Amino acid sequence: MTDALGPELLLELPGWGSRGRALEEALRSAIRGGRLVAGTRLPSSRDLASQLGLSRGTVTQAYEQLVAEGWLTARQGSGTRVAAGTAEAPARSGRSAGSAEAASGRYDLRPGRPDAYAFPREAWARAMRHVLREAPTEVFGFGDPRGRIELRTALASYLGRTRGVRVDPANLIVCSGYTQALGLLAEVFTELGVRTAGMEDPAIGDHVRLLAGRLRVAAVPVDAAGLRVDALRDSGAEVAVCTPAHQFPLGVSMAPERRSELLEWADDSLGWIVEDDYDGEFRYDRHPIAALQSRRPSRIVYAGSTSKTIGPAVRLGWIACPPLLLEPLTEAKRRARETRPLEQLALARMIELGDYDRHLRTMRRGYQRRRDTLVAAVRSGLPDVRVRGIDAGLHALLELPSAPSERAIVEAARATSVDVHPLGEYMRGDRDRHPPSLVVGYATPPAHSYPAALDALIRGLRRL
Ligand SMILES: Cc1ncc(COP(=O)(O)O)c(C=O)c1O
Repeated sequence: MTDALGPELLLELPGWGSRGRALEEALRSAIRGGRLVAGTRLPSSRDLASQLGLSRGTVTQAYEQLVAEGWLTARQGSGTRVAAGTAEAPARSGRSAGSAEAASGRYDLRPGRPDAYAFPREAWARAMRHVLREAPTEVFGFGDPRGRIELRTALASYLGRTRGVRVDPANLIVCSGYTQALGLLAEVFTELGVRTAGMEDPAIGDHVRLLAGRLRVAAVPVDAAGLRVDALRDSGAEVAVCTPAHQFPLGVSMAPERRSELLEWADDSLGWIVEDDYDGEFRYDRHPIAALQSRRPSRIVYAGSTSKTIGPAVRLGWIACPPLLLEPLTEAKRRARETRPLEQLALARMIELGDYDRHLRTMRRGYQRRRDTLVAAVRSGLPDVRVRGIDAGLHALLELPSAPSERAIVEAARATSVDVHPLGEYMRGDRDRHPPSLVVGYATPPAHSYPAALDALIRGLRRL
């Protein structure tokens, strides 16, 4: 018997093993089997703890894990509920339903997005509530074009601590993600008389086009050691735009000698380096390598973003700015107006409270598990396929040297309801430099449909 007032829940936990794990599995199985249907409100952690004779912390942790996996949702005011579409699909379909994607019969393994189900709703809501209650009135007006000092201070310390970035809060500019950072840089470089930017090839087409609106953009090939500095020199570029920690999309990390060569290029030619550190927090096989910026803060514009760490909807990013570029970049940012001051304060609060680090630790574990599962599935199901790139980030490159073409690969995946991107989508120069390949983003499907998504991918590619 219990004196709890909330909904009751009948769950049977085995008498052995970890209580938290057992509770998670009992809930998963009740949801998967349809006994707990979408929208069902679960007892509060206090009530369930008392119903099952567990500690409240055990229940809270199990709820948080299942929210992160997409089985449950947790919203202020409406409690913890079973998420939509989590019951097993009817036997005839043979695959678990789940997200909107599974409901539409498709699996999304395209790169570029984090797991939206894992958005840290509670921590974000806590931080936002605090901001709305406590923020000074001037927050609601135009502020410093560089962004809120609270966030710049928190970021300077966070980036120094986790990425080795050397920057004073005065030299940080907060912006709407990396995309805005690149747009502002294109403006400023043009004002400074720069004519050519050398950009990694392959790279994201939108980023190339953004620069190409103002500058000539040279395609600089990337090999297993990263951006080819010899080709950069030949291109006559005055700016190099690159992803040293984890090249997008090839997945290589810039080798130590290549890093030194790139710095030499910047010193010799007084060139600028734009370091896009879009997923530097996610390294699984070792401690992350410090940002290149730490070795030449005077020539390197370091840019980061919350798009991979929290979610693209937050639209916050930052530029650690070399002193010579601070004034023109601040002016360009002033023309673009302030960036979401309330969200800036919320992020500052999450960093100060340790919630951001905690969230990253959880995400790192989850993405590493997903990557390991992908690698194991490919090794056993597709022995001819090679997984390229370092153990990091939210995507992997699958090379299929014997496939007839990338178009055939994409069609084969499509036939088993999987959406993927071919490497060719990111290439500008000689496409034959790389064998037919897929860029697989493993973060997007919710955790409960991830195994089914991989299964569908392997089935599709086996047909080739
Ligand atoms: C290579 C690369 N750079 C930067 C970003 C971040 O862009 P933004 O901060 O504008 O969302 C992404 C995507 O998240 C990316 O894949």
